[in-house]
Amino acid sequence: IRQGIAVIGSVNMDIVNRVKAHPQPGETIHGLGTSYFAGGKGANQAVAAARSGAAVWMVGAVGKDDFGRQLMDGLQKDGVQVTAMEVKEGHSGMAFIAVDDGGENSIILSPGANGEVTAEDVVKHWPVVLEHCRAILLQNEIPWPATAAAIHAAAEAGVKVYLNPAPACEVPASELSRIDVLIVNESEAAAICGIRPHDEATARHAAAELVRSGVKTAIVTMGERGACYADVRGQAAFVPAFRVQAVDTTGAGDTFIGAFCAAYETKGMPVPEAMRFAAAASAIAVTRSGAQAAIPREAEIIRWLAAHAR
Ligand code: RIB
Ligand code: NA
Repeated sequence: IRQGIAVIGSVNMDIVNRVKAHPQPGETIHGLGTSYFAGGKGANQAVAAARSGAAVWMVGAVGKDDFGRQLMDGLQKDGVQVTAMEVKEGHSGMAFIAVDDGGENSIILSPGANGEVTAEDVVKHWPVVLEHCRAILLQNEIPWPATAAAIHAAAEAGVKVYLNPAPACEVPASELSRIDVLIVNESEAAAICGIRPHDEATARHAAAELVRSGVKTAIVTMGERGACYADVRGQAAFVPAFRVQAVDTTGAGDTFIGAFCAAYETKGMPVPEAMRFAAAASAIAVTRSGAQAAIPREAEIIRWLAAHAR
């Protein structure tokens, strides 16, 4: 039986400046220090799933540059399989990130190689996915035709589709019925169902609305306000977030998604337990700098859960 997870998505070098406060349009400010971190929503989710114990394949592209080599090395060190990665002419994806004193970020994406990923690339590497993976994990940082090709191939082959439409976009209504698990934050929920959740009641409402729009399962994440789940069978659950001091929230959502997918798909945890596991993983990630640099391993998540039992 296939147990692996394939992430078909982006790989970025994150160039992070700490700032006292974010600059306003027309304003120039002094940064407080610059760091380079491996990032990209796809790669972050891949690393989160791998560190949670899943077998993971990354499908995507880097550029022909030093960042590309470093990013590929990093994925491999985490045990993520990179045989289905392409190397494109031009530069690797980059994200120019500012993180303020409260740990809040703003991000400018420079897609580079991520913007070159095609439906043909997905088709070319699909046999690897078919051989090893029971689920694919998709985001919105590679061109939509590539993502759509993956959705269609998966639906045909009985591979489960997880979609995290981030950065926020509208998802064609015709595709929603092909999504097994839709994972959205506040603004992504608003872009798709018109409801911007801000507490348990509105999150439950948004999740139910998303299920009504065609997806089999919806998970709505709200950072420190918790996360909510709903599915077509009428099951629903709300999991509060763990309270932590935020240092850098970059990649916290990706950590939640990768950890959830690993817990639910490969460990067979029931949904509420997998949500708690994912909430713990992302709470830990928020307390540390960097996207992939902050993602905890399974053993640390388990220790954290034991220490924060409620
Ligand atoms: O979700 C966080 C990620 O978004 C960062 O790592 C950055 O690369 C952007 O893609
Ligand atoms: Na972090």
